[in-house]
Amino acid sequence: MMRSHLCGRLGAEQAGERVELCGWVHTRRDHGGVTFIDLRDTTGLVQVVFNPEISERSHEVAQDLRGEFCIKVVGEVRTRKAGTVNPNLGTGEVEVAAQEVEILSRAETPPFQVDGHQEVDEMLRLRYRYIDLRREEMQENLKLRHAIVSAIRRFFDAEGFLEIETPMLTRSTPEGARDYLVPSRSHPGTFYALPQSPQLFKQLFMVSGLDRYYQIVKCFRDEDLRADRQPEFTQLDLEMSFVDVEDVLDVTERMFKSVWKEALGVELADFTRLTYGESLQRFGTDKPDLRFGMELTDLSDVFAATEVKVFRGVLDAGGAIKGVTVPRQGALGRKDLDALVDQAKALGAGGLVWVGVEAETLRSPLDKFFTADERVALRKATDASDGDLILVVADKRVSVVNKVLAGLRTRLAERFDLIPKLDRSDPDAWRFAWIVDFPWFEWNDDEERWDFIHHPFTGIVGDTAQYLESDPGKVISKSYDITLNGWELASGSIRIHDREMQQRVFRALGISDEEAQEKFSFLLDAFKYGPPPHGGIAPGIDRIVALAAGQTNIREVIAFPKTQTAFDPLTGAPSQVDEAQLKVVHLRSTAPKP
Ligand code: AMO
Repeated sequence: MMRSHLCGRLGAEQAGERVELCGWVHTRRDHGGVTFIDLRDTTGLVQVVFNPEISERSHEVAQDLRGEFCIKVVGEVRTRKAGTVNPNLGTGEVEVAAQEVEILSRAETPPFQVDGHQEVDEMLRLRYRYIDLRREEMQENLKLRHAIVSAIRRFFDAEGFLEIETPMLTRSTPEGARDYLVPSRSHPGTFYALPQSPQLFKQLFMVSGLDRYYQIVKCFRDEDLRADRQPEFTQLDLEMSFVDVEDVLDVTERMFKSVWKEALGVELADFTRLTYGESLQRFGTDKPDLRFGMELTDLSDVFAATEVKVFRGVLDAGGAIKGVTVPRQGALGRKDLDALVDQAKALGAGGLVWVGVEAETLRSPLDKFFTADERVALRKATDASDGDLILVVADKRVSVVNKVLAGLRTRLAERFDLIPKLDRSDPDAWRFAWIVDFPWFEWNDDEERWDFIHHPFTGIVGDTAQYLESDPGKVISKSYDITLNGWELASGSIRIHDREMQQRVFRALGISDEEAQEKFSFLLDAFKYGPPPHGGIAPGIDRIVALAAGQTNIREVIAFPKTQTAFDPLTGAPSQVDEAQLKVVHLRSTAPKP
């Protein structure tokens, strides 16, 4: 071993010991003929002193040291004099008096400082990711990722699950995103698809009698990227046989509790449970952030007899009027209110009605059209106090009303600091919720057909199967999501294992028997051989770690992520390949030459 100790682990217990340390020069400063450096390794920093009176040679070499040089130091640990103890440093009680120093490798001036807290352009961070990962925050994120993944493995091991790998070069899977394709050399004109998830394979494991499977696995989806979406990401994928909804919910919730306890030291409360319908009604979204109130109120009854033209028109067309109350913002100025109206429009609303609640009156452009009864009923329904602001959205489509108000609810909560600052050790900081009873189908206006919401093998809640042919919108699925603080963390379902039911579902989706056979042939074939009842779920690891780390973008917890445009500034992928490479896989590019 080149070293005897780790920098960040030194303390008063080692005082008087001779230690050998390896690491990087974090900072260097000269002071009264003595040189000080902070030496950094993965465990933290320790101060090293180069005093010519202790070693002239070392002091001389120290003059040559620059930030990010990789060095080895041999020296004696000593406690710092009173008054020079650094309370901000884990090792702040001690320092190492250097007797020998060796430069293991030199460093050019890095493109950004490892010790700095300055904002660095993300492209630059990704281009030099190996430097970026030297930063303490990034090291902490990756250590937390490791802690979470290893806690997950321990949990499933103890529960008797098998971790089994599934192919990366495979066929298109039914998660509904665009595939990443890999051309085949040996089968001209054909392509593998990288898996969007191991969905079909894990169902095959159940047909094979493997009973309980899990895998921490890469998935690939060519979709529009956002803060919580990467083109390749990691799932904790699991599937179980002979289970119903409650069994999957139970094991998954226990897993999250065990992981939070092991990785964060937090005892989570039982997860809240909301039906999809209730979540939409109260929060306007199926990913509700439960850390603050501001629930939506249905105002259709308040305005049932309204003469206000927009409201009347919406109600007569069978639409919805809902509102959200922003505490203590009733006196918001005109400019801010106009900006809110613009935000609502950008979210899809035709307009936004604001109502400032004052002691005796309401302040609103529509106030003169409200009746006295409506004024009273509005206050009562929204439970608004004097000084609050009510924002009202009306639209023929309740989905638009919900989307707009859900968007405003979170933005305003952020803007007015209504979301408690994250304290990772506080169980209340983690508002996990199960969302259950999703509709099976969703109407696709553009294509004028019913689409699946989860995936085509999702089971159906018993007595709602009767609507498959007559009224698909009423069919409820046996699927479930986990949300945490406004993010979707996981989705899963109990699957259909009955061929006849599966055929009815395909028909309702407008998929012919031949088409279904072509798309999902191997799964449907397997289902001819005694498939057990089964179901599972897949939480996204990147999202779990990002939230656990208090980050707002999953790129912060992925070692080598892609940019928003699916580009990797480090390796330069995706990149051109030469003609010869294309030729062996039977391809010719039609892209314009760069
Ligand atoms: P679903 O498609 O809902 O379900 O994905 C499950 C979870 O995977 C994560 N996730 C992503 N994370 C980062 N970037 C992405 N592009 C991305 N896409 C999805 C999310 C999401 O909740 N096979 C089913 C699961 C099942 O039914 O068992 C599936 O993949 O956290």
